[in-house]
Amino acid sequence: MEAYFVDVLNLLVRSLHIITGIAWIGASFYFVMLDSSLKAPKKSEDSKKGVFGELWAVHGGGFYHSQKYLQGPTNEPLPKDLHWSKWEAYTTWISGFFLLAIVYWYGADIYLIDASKMALSQPAAIGISIAFLVGSWVIYDLLCKSALAKSDRNLGIVIFILVAVAAYALTQIFSGRGAFMTFGAMLGTTMVANVFFVIIPGQKKMVDDLNAGVPVNPIYGQRGKQRSVHNTYFTLPVLFTMISNHYAMTYSHEYNWAILIAISMAGALIRIFFVSRHGEGKPMTWAAVAGGLIMVGVIWAMAPKPVQPIAALPVASSVAGTAAVAQPVAEVSFDTVNAIIQERCTVCHAATPSYPGFAAAPKGYMYDTKAQIEAQAALIYQQTVVLKAMPIGNLTGITEEERQVIAQWYQQR
Ligand code: HEC
Repeated sequence: MEAYFVDVLNLLVRSLHIITGIAWIGASFYFVMLDSSLKAPKKSEDSKKGVFGELWAVHGGGFYHSQKYLQGPTNEPLPKDLHWSKWEAYTTWISGFFLLAIVYWYGADIYLIDASKMALSQPAAIGISIAFLVGSWVIYDLLCKSALAKSDRNLGIVIFILVAVAAYALTQIFSGRGAFMTFGAMLGTTMVANVFFVIIPGQKKMVDDLNAGVPVNPIYGQRGKQRSVHNTYFTLPVLFTMISNHYAMTYSHEYNWAILIAISMAGALIRIFFVSRHGEGKPMTWAAVAGGLIMVGVIWAMAPKPVQPIAALPVASSVAGTAAVAQPVAEVSFDTVNAIIQERCTVCHAATPSYPGFAAAPKGYMYDTKAQIEAQAALIYQQTVVLKAMPIGNLTGITEEERQVIAQWYQQR
């Protein structure tokens, strides 16, 4: 019952997270586009009113005329019904935090910890995960406030290096999927903290100053802009890591840290291109090309190496029940493979899983019968031999020899 309850909670919180995430990132992309598309106001009375730029747009059967006032309207009070964009960001983070807690902390043994990397206890793993979320924000925020921030480019380079170091460190500490998700949560937390601690307080200060009739200090606008620019470049890397757990070829690769860094870099470059496309100058096509080339390189590097035909390899025959002497095996029988699968897989992949925390077979894959196993042969081979993503976290302790037996069984079919 507990596992079912956790599954339902997972469904509800995940839905909320996706919906609010769409609202947040959608609004954020829209405002970045708006900001870079602004043209100087056509009417001189608009300039006198304090309009800095404007955009005409058509959408949903009507025409919109957006105007940006850098410092609020001159000689006019700010309207009382000012719309703020912040709850989209906050609810995305709050729901994301709960989802992280439900899946990766509550289920740390399955999803976060990989004993072959570091045999962490559950509290230690959770502690490290939290330390990354908080620590990354503290360091990033200090950097943005330091003298380094005088140059956007230098700041960007240092942030990139630190992000890459974090990606490497996480993959050495956690399971591949746990590392990728913590990395995404880390960047996402920084983005929301930018909204909560810098952008929104700065805007509040601007509104207060305007209402009090004191001149607005442009520093609030500049700081807010700097953080929003960072946020926009973090967006695609974060979105990638949020879906990465469906793609074992990324996170379970030997060089998963390099894949994580490369895809994040490609995401940031692609975003740089889209931001520039709406601006005044020429679009930075090179950024899109570079991002595309990095992705081609990653796809090439991730491609599975052809698995050696195994017929000639010695196989420890302990599985088959005979003495554990290495001997060439001509043909692997279904019973041999079935014995491995029943021992290593069906605690989770069965109509009624016995592994704690599973209310139903993961992704609906069950290996109770011969027909089920035969039908799933390609996927079993892919996940167990090529990607080594299953058994998840190798919780059931499959051996290399057993993986090879599965490989041979699949290849001889
Ligand atoms: C401790 C539980 C557990 C064990 C043991 C386990 N799995 Fe899984 N398996 C999972 C989970 C959880 C998922 C879903 C992962 C996800 O959400 O991406 C999964 C997913 C899969 C998938 C679908 C992958 C995809 O992305 O489509 C296959 C195939 C699979 N497992 C095969 C196996 C095989 C074969 C074994 C035994 C060698 C095995 N699993 C052992 C928990 C387990």
